[in-house]
Amino acid sequence: MSRSMIRIKGTLLLNDHKNSIARAARIIRRGGLVAFPTETVYGLGASATDTEAVKKIFTAKGRPPDNPLIVHLSDQKQLRSVAREIPDTAYLLIEKYWPGPLSLVLQRSKNIPEVVSAGLPTVAVRMPDHRVALNLIRLSRVPIAAPSANWSGRPSPTDFRHVLEDLSGRIDAVIKSNVCAIGVESTVLDLTGSEPVILRPGGLSRERLEETLGCHIRLAGSGANIEQPSSPGMRYRHYSPLAPLILVTGAINRRRRLLNTLACHYNRKGFVVGMLNFTIQPNFSPEIETGLLAAKLFLALRQLDARKVDLILAEETETTGLGLAVMNRLRKAAARTFKV
Ligand code: TXA
Ligand code: MG
Repeated sequence: MSRSMIRIKGTLLLNDHKNSIARAARIIRRGGLVAFPTETVYGLGASATDTEAVKKIFTAKGRPPDNPLIVHLSDQKQLRSVAREIPDTAYLLIEKYWPGPLSLVLQRSKNIPEVVSAGLPTVAVRMPDHRVALNLIRLSRVPIAAPSANWSGRPSPTDFRHVLEDLSGRIDAVIKSNVCAIGVESTVLDLTGSEPVILRPGGLSRERLEETLGCHIRLAGSGANIEQPSSPGMRYRHYSPLAPLILVTGAINRRRRLLNTLACHYNRKGFVVGMLNFTIQPNFSPEIETGLLAAKLFLALRQLDARKVDLILAEETETTGLGLAVMNRLRKAAARTFKV
């Protein structure tokens, strides 16, 4: 058996060479499910124009059916076939940030079945900045609908091994490639209202978007309607490691003191405690530092699971750059948050 033919509980493990990607594309065209790398996290792809194939994504992941998927393109020309009434702002952002970690919510075209968008009249679209993902979409000759390739509620996968941990035996194939460089999912920006709104902070920072559009961009769920989820996916508990995660926020000295107290308390009780410390080095740029944190966040959560810790203590980080995405994921992963 060749190395590109290994199966794990029935899931085909493919390498990222051209022939293997072509094989994965045939699986997509026939209505199957393929996990593939992107620059953010691994995605679980199916043909975005095939209702039955898209339904399989929800089953394989245990995903609630009211949480819409992102449609992935390999060519800007595909945009008009998946979305309509595309505003000029979209083209401005696409020119600058595609391929890249920016998903745009636009009006959905009839070519994209309702199931992709969980019945919404809109569709989220992005072009991933990854050779394997782009080739897979190109060779499939269809846009690919893909959520992150994890079991629903678990940390997103940044390595093919994480995909197998959660989904082996539940999907047709996974393409093994390099680790996802950005490490958190794309920024989801809604362009269907009177002003752009960030529905999910992610791999493209709010500062860069604001600089490009020349205006302040609101973050959904901040301000008065903090409890009101505007992106359906934001309503569920997410990104959760197996052990409960306690997040400590507040001024650095006070939160460090509480973290130490909690660590001592639980150690004395015989708990194995895992720590997620986010020290930003003062002599580095916060943008670069938060990017490094983001790249390791989901990996760190899965590594703590592998160490079988009983409890994870995590510390607040800055919300500049990708820190906004890191804090968003930590808040959702947390079983409890202490503010001191
Ligand atoms: O980086 C990424 O975005 C990764 C890779 C695989 O591309 N994908 C990803 O997909 O993170 P998923 O399904 O895990 O997250 C998609 C997010 C959810 O919060 C969902 O609610 C939101 O995008 N979303 C999708 N379509 C939407 C729509 N039409 N309106 C509002 N929110 C939408
Ligand atoms: Mg996800």
